[in-house]
Amino acid sequence: MASKKKIEIILDEYTGIDELSIEDQLLVREAMRASANAYSRYSNFSVGAALKLDTGEIITANNRENASYPVSLCAEHAAIAYAGGNYPGSVIISIAICARKGEEFTYVPVSPCGKCRQVISEEEDRSGKKIRIILYGRSVIYISEGIENLLPLHFSSSDLLH
Ligand code: THU
Repeated sequence: MASKKKIEIILDEYTGIDELSIEDQLLVREAMRASANAYSRYSNFSVGAALKLDTGEIITANNRENASYPVSLCAEHAAIAYAGGNYPGSVIISIAICARKGEEFTYVPVSPCGKCRQVISEEEDRSGKKIRIILYGRSVIYISEGIENLLPLHFSSSDLLH
């Protein structure tokens, strides 16, 4: 007979940006700034992502949409691809993500899409280090220490060995 397996996810919850450490606040503000340059003419949902690398460098990007909708690129994916291309071997320490619908930042934290979760997971797998993931919303901010909380039972390189 099957037994139930319960998987717990743990997020730190904050109710405002002022509650975050100075370092995290800075990263969120960089993501906010990046969202202003999103190319989001089809959805009007402007996402900003900011990565902090172990070199201290901060990389920002935003979503890039396309008239052929599936061709669009998410902000997180764009930022991670840029970091990989321009700072080879660097390790992503943390990532902040925010989104605005028109001028207003979303009330609830923006939740990375499944594909972006997989992309973040690959970065952790590559570096062997957990990434601090900061999801900004005006009413609440979630912080996850690692992708496992957002992508339980994730598929990674070790699955290819079995
Ligand atoms: N989007 C992101 O940039 N990141 C996510 O994780 C969720 C969705 C973008 C894709 C599209 O341009 C717009 O948000 C609406 O889905």
